[in-house]
Amino acid sequence: MKLAYEKPVINKLRSGLMNKFGWSPAYARKVRTNIDGVSIDDLVERYGSPLFVYSERTARQRYRQMYNAFSTRYPNVQFGWSYKTNYLQAVCALMHQEGAIAEVVSAMEYDKARALGMPGDQIIFNGPHKPYAALEKAVSEGAVINIDHLDEIVDLETIAKKLGRTVHVGMRLNLDAGIYPQWSRFGFNLESGQALDAVKRMASGGKLKLNGLHCHIGTFIMDPQAYAREVEKMVKFGYEIEDAFGFGMEYLDIGGGFPSQSRLKGVYLPPEVAIPNIDEYAETITTALSHALKPGDFPKLIIESGRALIDEAGYLVTTVVATKRLVDGTRAYVADAGVNLLFTAFWYKFNVELDREAGGVNETSVIYGPLCMNIDAIDEGIQLPPLKRGARLIFSPVGAYNNTQWLQFIEYRPNVVLVTTNGEVEVIREAEDLSDIQRRERLPKHLELLKKA
Ligand SMILES: Cc1ncc(COP(=O)(O)O)c(C=O)c1O
Repeated sequence: MKLAYEKPVINKLRSGLMNKFGWSPAYARKVRTNIDGVSIDDLVERYGSPLFVYSERTARQRYRQMYNAFSTRYPNVQFGWSYKTNYLQAVCALMHQEGAIAEVVSAMEYDKARALGMPGDQIIFNGPHKPYAALEKAVSEGAVINIDHLDEIVDLETIAKKLGRTVHVGMRLNLDAGIYPQWSRFGFNLESGQALDAVKRMASGGKLKLNGLHCHIGTFIMDPQAYAREVEKMVKFGYEIEDAFGFGMEYLDIGGGFPSQSRLKGVYLPPEVAIPNIDEYAETITTALSHALKPGDFPKLIIESGRALIDEAGYLVTTVVATKRLVDGTRAYVADAGVNLLFTAFWYKFNVELDREAGGVNETSVIYGPLCMNIDAIDEGIQLPPLKRGARLIFSPVGAYNNTQWLQFIEYRPNVVLVTTNGEVEVIREAEDLSDIQRRERLPKHLELLKKA
């Protein structure tokens, strides 16, 4: 067979020398032949490429580790699974089986939780857009409602009047916990007095009873002390409004935001070093609570963690469909998955593993996705050995925010499988075909030109 000609390139090798980014990885290889004992080859043969693969074992381990970290330090803990992080039914069901209730931020997510069998009183309804009909349904089904803005107070009062009873509600706060830029667009600001004004408004209306406080200070929070500041402020405010209006706080919902073990772009240290252990968060938060709360007072501590529970359980298996040399000499690969499937590529630097050993010296390479769009690059500087068309690259962690924010854009969305704790493989979302793309479209009669021809 005649080999294809490839223009020679001269690359500087940095083998053995230490530089700002650590030891040169010129010969380092990361190889993953299987996921929880199921070979990558087998998976691709049976379910195609690209392929999302979830590890049930890892998801359950992460949940138990985090839940134990909090529940061994505080007597009244409830997890709420953040649907937006990953609302594949199998993932939500797994989290519910572990003991989490549902945390939803839209009518669609509320419907999803109900369709999965979660009763209304096992659902926390957050978010800035709760359409009136959805809100009314959630109230009548006993959901926990965390109010985002004044207009929602008006809606809830209307609903309370219609139902002829007082409605229990929580409110979302935003506050300065030392995380900047501060998220101030959700809920009521604490320091400016906005939150207190909203409580006064609820008290004077006489139809709503505030029984909980909610706050979510951001995402990928790497400083446990930020949560300590958050809970201190929430508890203090809770006691203030209890004294002033008689509203007792039955729960403190501190949101999510705990980081996963992924590497953020621009963070110099590896996740094992940069990211505190979950026990450090639990210890800091529960210690702050024990100082702030009155003796014997243990309001329910609700935690709405998303990313930290599921990210590590998700992998994306991809295949190199083309190899290229860019005009500046950079080695480039085109993979069959790109930012259409990996929304988090915009801020994560993924672990990229090969499914087998590959010979040759590593080279700084770029991995593009399949989209005919310039932005579709999933790694813009990775050390890889020379790869051939057909080589497989496994990206992780990808379990959080990708299967919800993926795009139906240019390509079909692929199969998603779960490797169960006993090593079986279950399809949890089938690959799409043209019928999924066109199911909702309608072609007006006068445009049916091709069909007539
Ligand atoms: C209200 C609320 N709770 C929980 C979460 C989950 O956050 P994370 O995945 O960072 O834990 C989010 C995500 O933005 C959120 O908005």
